[in-house]
Formats: sequence, structure tokens, C-alpha cells
Amino acid sequence: MHDFQYQGNELYCEEVPVRRVVEQVGSPCYIYSHRTLIRHFHAFEEAFQAIPHLVAYAMKANSNIAVLRVLAREGCGADIVSGGELFRALKAGVSPQKMVFAGVGKSEEEIRYALQSNILMFNVESPGELQHINTVAGALGMRARVALRINPDIDPQTHPYISTGLKKSKFGIRSDRALEEFEIAHQLPHIEVVGVHKHIGSQLTKINPFVDSLKKILELIGILQAKGFNIQYLNIGGGLGITYSDETPPHPRDLAEAISPLLSTIKCHLIMEPGRSIVGNAGILVTKVLYNKDAETKRFVIVDAAMNDLLRPSLYEAHHDILPVMKNESVPVNTVDVVGPICESGDFLAKDRKMRESKQGDLLAVMSAGAYGFTMSSNYNSRPRVPEVLVKGKAIMVIRKRESFEDLLRGETIPEVFA
Ligand code: LLP
Repeated sequence: MHDFQYQGNELYCEEVPVRRVVEQVGSPCYIYSHRTLIRHFHAFEEAFQAIPHLVAYAMKANSNIAVLRVLAREGCGADIVSGGELFRALKAGVSPQKMVFAGVGKSEEEIRYALQSNILMFNVESPGELQHINTVAGALGMRARVALRINPDIDPQTHPYISTGLKKSKFGIRSDRALEEFEIAHQLPHIEVVGVHKHIGSQLTKINPFVDSLKKILELIGILQAKGFNIQYLNIGGGLGITYSDETPPHPRDLAEAISPLLSTIKCHLIMEPGRSIVGNAGILVTKVLYNKDAETKRFVIVDAAMNDLLRPSLYEAHHDILPVMKNESVPVNTVDVVGPICESGDFLAKDRKMRESKQGDLLAVMSAGAYGFTMSSNYNSRPRVPEVLVKGKAIMVIRKRESFEDLLRGETIPEVFA
């Protein structure tokens, strides 16, 4: 469910015509719905209200500080994966006591920064990292709270690039060594083991992988608790899918129903790290048609947004619906590729898509672009990154302005010797 709907023939975000946002900030631009964001966050809160829990929003999905602030004000925490994300989350007012830090390659500086910020815990991904965190915490005279991320070797049945819980994946600690690592961690003077973490992948549309991986983790927690470990937190990661075209992913309610009976066997505070399911359908990318072009065997709609603005179609062949901002049912339907101006054949937003004919200057909405849209954008081909706009009711709020050409050069210098 989202708040991008037609009123008559015109696409709105909440009470604002999409066209009006473009009149204000130009094209392309990202538009987010405040109402959808809030509703999606509360879907988790309500589904899990019977269980002590923390929603640590996976901010890699969308890390604009206004989006973070909106969620933080509702009580949301953050799953962070870098010093930069920690900086953003702090700036946005997320409580450090609601932050968990994952990622296979945390640097010394990042570990120190997180310790000094007093985050809730690190999700440790390898034996080497565990030792490193112990050393860095020791040098600061601190004890680091950690959960060990266990790789449960479960197939999440999603795109291989976003599967993370298989034996061959780089994430987490191998499950056959889990017990050993917990024992090692327990002996380290500057480590306090507080939890177990798992995350098996993203855009999961079935409930079974969640349940199967949780069962494996609960087995481990049972053994750990029998050995006297005080496991206070169980972090089940993120990964709940969304509807891009015709998928029917589980609702947070379905997830809660499926896993609550399993959780009753242990006494742990539950942590979840949803990203996409909170922001994905809360955002669109609006783009303008530049040209229609007929090649010998293909028809192209060339638009002003490209793979640098939304990488998902190029990288994963991901499907995003593309809707006209002004509907016109009297024009014919064609099969087209929607492509951007970048000099790569892989630069497309849709391939072989049946769409109503659009003409130069028409606006198109690339749907479900709120997650891993702007955050994965780049300046490739020296294209300034596009603005982000938050709509709340009738209000249009620019939460990131369009980059200028000057912004593109920030930090670059021509050495004196080339004067
Ligand atoms: N927790 C951890 C440890 C993660 O690695 C991720 C995502 C999440 C939570 C959030 O997962 P979500 O609820 O958003 O599925 N760029 C890809 C997605 C990469 C996901 C990486 N990790 C895409 O555009 O589909």
C-alpha cells in the first residue's frame, strides 16, 4: 500500500500532484510520501507489539536525514553499516542506544567512532573482527557490546546478489564454528556478548526462509543459554520483500504470526532491521521523456533519468513499474525499452515494457524507488545527483537539493605542477 494514486488522470503523492513537485524542483527527482513511511514503520510496531522489540531501520535503503528524522521521531532505531551512516543517524537524532552496526569490514576508525558514540551493539561478522573490536575497545578503556552474526546457511530464494545467508556468502560467522566463537568472545576482556544476529537476504517474498533460519538460530541460543551465556538480544535482520509488480510478500503481521510461537521459548529482546519494506513503496523517481527513437528492431523511450540515478534495473534486472504522471488512455500501447542518457547499453530503467505511448516532455513515474534508489545513485557521466522531496499532505519539502556542477568538483584539485 502506498500514497501515490491517480486523482482523475493525474498521479498524486498524497494531496500533491506529482507534476507540481517537478514544476518546483525540476526533473528527474525522487519523491517520498511521509504518510506511507509512517504507516510502514507502524506496521512493524503493531505486528510485534506483544513482544519487546526494537525496529532498527536499515538505513542503507534510504539514508536521507529527513527520512531518518521522521522515523526516529516515531521511536525507530537504525541498522548502520559505516561511519558515514553513523554520522547521518546521529545528525538525524536517532538514539545511539537504538543503533546496531553490521558489515564485514568495519575499520578501526569506524569501531572507535561507534564505541565513543555508545551505540547499542556491533553485529560481529568474523573472528578477526571480534579480536579487533576487543583491541580497539581496550585502548579506549571500554567494553564493546556485541552480537555475533551467524550465517545459518539458508537459501532466501531471492536474487543471488542480495542473498547473504548461504555458506558461500561473505557474511556472518559459519554456523559450525558459532559455539566456539561465542566461547572465545566470552573470554575477551573488552567484549560483552549480548546477542545473536542473522540476516539471510533481501526482497524475500516467502515466509519459510525466515522461519527456517530462525529455527537454526534458536537452536544455537538454546545451547548458549544452557551453557550460561546471557543472550539478551535476538536480531532477525531485515529482508521482507515488497510488491514491485505482482509479488505478494508477507506483511509484517504474517511474519509476526509465523515467528511469535517460536520466540516464546526464549527470553530475548527482539531486534529487526527492515529497510526496503519501510521505504521501498514510499518513494518514486520522476523522469521526463526526452526523445522517442525507433531503432531497426526496437523502440526506445529516452528519458532524463539514468542508471546513475536508479541502478537497480541495470544491476539486478529489477522490475519497477513505470506509470505516466498524466494518464491518456486514448494513445496506443507499444513495447519499448525505457533508457537513460548514459553511454552504456546497460543503462535502462525497463526493457520490453508494454506502455502507453508518451511524447517529448511527458513525465513518467518509476514506482517503488524509495529503497536503494537515491542511496545507490552516483555521479557517473558527471551527472549531478537529483533532488529528494518529501510530501506530507499538501506540503512539498525539498530534503535534498539538486547537485550543481560545482558540487561535482568538490574535493578535486589540479596540482600546481600542471599550472
Ligand atoms: N540488515 C542487514 C545486515 C542487511 O545487510 C540488509 C540489507 C538489511 C538489514 C535490510 O534488508 P531489507 O529489509 O532492505 O531487505 N541493493 C539491493 C539490496 C541490498 C540489501 C543489502 N542488505 C537492492 O536494491 O535490492
